[in-house]
Amino acid sequence: MTYLRTKLVRVLTAYFGADDRRIEHALRVLHHADRIVGDHPGCDPDVVIAAALLHDVGIKVSEDKHGHNTGSTQEQYGPPVAAELLGAISFPPQKIKVVTDIIGNHHSPSRFDYPELVVLKKADLIVNRDEKV
Ligand SMILES: [Fe+2]
Repeated sequence: MTYLRTKLVRVLTAYFGADDRRIEHALRVLHHADRIVGDHPGCDPDVVIAAALLHDVGIKVSEDKHGHNTGSTQEQYGPPVAAELLGAISFPPQKIKVVTDIIGNHHSPSRFDYPELVVLKKADLIVNRDEKV
């Protein structure tokens, strides 16, 4: 999609509002996903971008509902939010399915063999490791 990064950055910042930490995290994950995607043949670049930027949208719902989030609540609440956000920018439905599968599986053993899921998990791991330092 044309200017997909820009469209999704707008969506992401509108969604997370003043939560700069989440926005920064998503941008860092996108940076690493872009860097390593060439090592993973078969990736759809649009899916990689969307998954990187939106993978943690479930955190906000989880924190609003429960006051905390875990890997499993992120997997539970993220996909419907991502589907809505992607639908609003006319992201193709078959790609929304892949992105939401990825978001719903990014903190547990992989149930899908999408190369984009591998890329997201690696990129998120790199950023989470950096952020702990
Ligand atoms: Fe993350």
